[in-house]
Amino acid sequence: MNMFEKLVKINCYSKNKILRKAATNLLEKLYCCEINCTEIDKSVLFAHHACGCTIVASKICENVVIFQNVSIGSNMKFNKPSGEWENVGNPIISKNVVIADGAKILGPVLIGENSVVGAGAIITKDVPANNIAYGVNQFKPKDANYDLVYSSNMINSDKIIEANNQLIAKYMKTIYHVNVEEMNFAQLFKEISPEEIPDDVFTLTGKIYPVITAGKGEHYNSMTASGGGMGLLFRKPAIWCVLQSTRYTLELIQKEQSYTLSYFPHEYKKQVHFLGSKSGRDSEKMKEVELTSVQTPSGNISFKEARLIIECKLAQITTPNPDDFCTQEARDYISEVYKDPNEYRKYVFGEITHVWMKNSLLH
Ligand SMILES: Cc1cc2nc3c(=O)[nH]c(=O)nc-3n(C[C@H](O)[C@H](O)[C@H](O)COP(=O)(O)O)c2cc1C
Repeated sequence: MNMFEKLVKINCYSKNKILRKAATNLLEKLYCCEINCTEIDKSVLFAHHACGCTIVASKICENVVIFQNVSIGSNMKFNKPSGEWENVGNPIISKNVVIADGAKILGPVLIGENSVVGAGAIITKDVPANNIAYGVNQFKPKDANYDLVYSSNMINSDKIIEANNQLIAKYMKTIYHVNVEEMNFAQLFKEISPEEIPDDVFTLTGKIYPVITAGKGEHYNSMTASGGGMGLLFRKPAIWCVLQSTRYTLELIQKEQSYTLSYFPHEYKKQVHFLGSKSGRDSEKMKEVELTSVQTPSGNISFKEARLIIECKLAQITTPNPDDFCTQEARDYISEVYKDPNEYRKYVFGEITHVWMKNSLLH
């Protein structure tokens, strides 16, 4: 249970008045939200931490979902001749209702089961079950084949990012007359110095796994790597990684004496892991991978989807000797690895010759 859920629980159900008051204050301070219902079921779900919500209802039933900036409250009027308040009371929200962001439900009204109150709707009259309420007191039957706004089968975030990327590509095409797929290397990337690399070395080596690519023209291969580091080797900016001796990419690095390390935005995680899942020596992985290859000005290969490319000239390949290691842990690890000569790790040092960042317009 996160902090918001804990505060809601205390605010709505605690018998201890002092605790309840403290939770109410914190909810208001931290989330700009007030929840004060005569009855509220424990299963009610507040999306986006009820940010900006004022929820003052008679009763909220099970499995209701309430999005941000929703107001549920009263719609009373004072009759001056009679000196009485009229239209007194707060809404009842029946089970399985979804209330989208910015909706306002006011007065002693009933929102029927399974209905959806659309974003920005203003509702001061009853809404029958299985309807969509929208606009000002409008409603129409809900299509039973669709869950609107909320479903317990939530969409995978990668799919949203993919859809957004397609929208961005379309936008770039219409606004800037730019088609990323048709753009060449110079339009996509701008050269920066190694000192200008914006990410720290630990993020680059441990969190964003680089894709190492070696080869020329149509004949190239990529693998995923992790670990290694960056620094100065014989006073030149250098990057090093630890590659198993059997890697096909390593064979091509040795043949061409140059290679690239491409770093991708998070949404290309699937492709990055795919390149680390099978060898290009005995598969067609470079044809299968959903990335667009591009040649650097020096003729090495990277990908249009990369956000950072580091190009290297092979400087040194070292096979560490188990005796080189000083800690028992490292010695045990390396002796284990060295049992099979095919499993040898090579320390591969590359002198950084070029660094390119994705053109900021295209981020
Ligand atoms: C996240 C991740 C990190 C990896 N890190 C390394 C690494 O640092 N060194 C290595 O030799 N293999 C590493 N691999 C495994 C290789 O990428 C994988 O074996 C790849 O299929 C080798 O391809 P190749 O034979 O076509 O060159 C990693 C794989 C993944 C998924």
